[in-house]
Amino acid sequence: MSATSSPVTVTVTGAAGQIGYALLFRIASGQLLGPDTPVRLRLLEIPQAVKAAEGTAMELDDCAFPLLAGIDITDDATAAFDGANVALLVGARPRTKGMERGDLLEANGGIFAPQGRAINAGAADDIRVLVVGNPANTNALIAQAAAPDVPAERFTAMTRLDHNRAVAQLAKKLSVPVGEITKLTIWGNHSATQYPDLYHAEVGGKIAAEQVDESWLRDDFIPTVAKRGAAIIEARGASSAASAANAAIDHVFDWVNGTPEGDWTSAAIPSDGSYGVAEGIISSFPVTSRNGAWEIVQGLEINEFSRTRIDASVAELVEERDAVQKLGLL
Ligand code: NAD
Ligand code: LMR
Repeated sequence: MSATSSPVTVTVTGAAGQIGYALLFRIASGQLLGPDTPVRLRLLEIPQAVKAAEGTAMELDDCAFPLLAGIDITDDATAAFDGANVALLVGARPRTKGMERGDLLEANGGIFAPQGRAINAGAADDIRVLVVGNPANTNALIAQAAAPDVPAERFTAMTRLDHNRAVAQLAKKLSVPVGEITKLTIWGNHSATQYPDLYHAEVGGKIAAEQVDESWLRDDFIPTVAKRGAAIIEARGASSAASAANAAIDHVFDWVNGTPEGDWTSAAIPSDGSYGVAEGIISSFPVTSRNGAWEIVQGLEINEFSRTRIDASVAELVEERDAVQKLGLL
């Protein structure tokens, strides 16, 4: 999917939502795939939000983006994913009052299983899927299970926002530019159990964990990163949108174009059992991208503290998997 003159089809679900609004203009301007790649946008919405998506499309037209080759809007998943090269699954069922975790997983099963089937039926051979809608890791697993003809590793979930949050918090603490921080890892679930790991992260080439107090790392940094989504909701009265869209752009850009030499990033990808993470669940790892495919960074030593934290987040993912399995979604 490198520089090409034929447009790449990018399907975005939940296009009329707040992340959609922050995302679509950046995709159309070339920030998702690079400055040489024209894009055709396919916007999938529920029927009652199609009109709002049409309004966003009018604004996209009004930007006269040179790389934007066309926009289709639909409430039909089969049409939305037909020929798609990149799918950003943003639309999801939010948790509402009185809803239990199981209800949320079931409601999202009703969205991500049909979308997985539509991807299986009609997406392009090089389809890459990023799930943003929460619970993102398990929604990605549901979509993947419904798409048995698509290679499993093409289904990923977003922990890049957590990664970027962790980089920013550490940079602030040490008063260094974010560009000096490398090799940070988010492990596990995109939830409060996630584990942002500073034991391999480097600041100016030195291990980050050795440059901060252990108490700051454990009692301040980790909860601040893990609960940042809730803090944003509390402050804005709405969940993160522009930063989530930015992270989605970062994830897909790196997946397609590769990660920089000597560094890695974080993405939730299907586990091959590395680092004792249950095989098959979609869990966040330290990853590099080469030739358009994510690879888990191997050989990192995991200390006892990290082991406990990784195991706790993986246990939550296994619970979510078991719950959707019981619902017949896997
Ligand atoms: P939003 O409510 O503003 O927008 C969601 C949109 O999805 C709505 O327009 C809705 O009509 C649409 N939608 C619902 N069901 C759909 C379906 N079946 N097909 C197509 N569209 C559908 O929400 P938002 O703020 O844009 O957030 C979207 C999701 O992203 C939420 O689940 C949120 O929790 C999640 N999120 C994830 C991360 C992350 O880091 N992984 C970060 C922020 C938000
Ligand atoms: C975030 O991390 O900002 C979101 O996942 C929070 C949320 O619950 O929507």
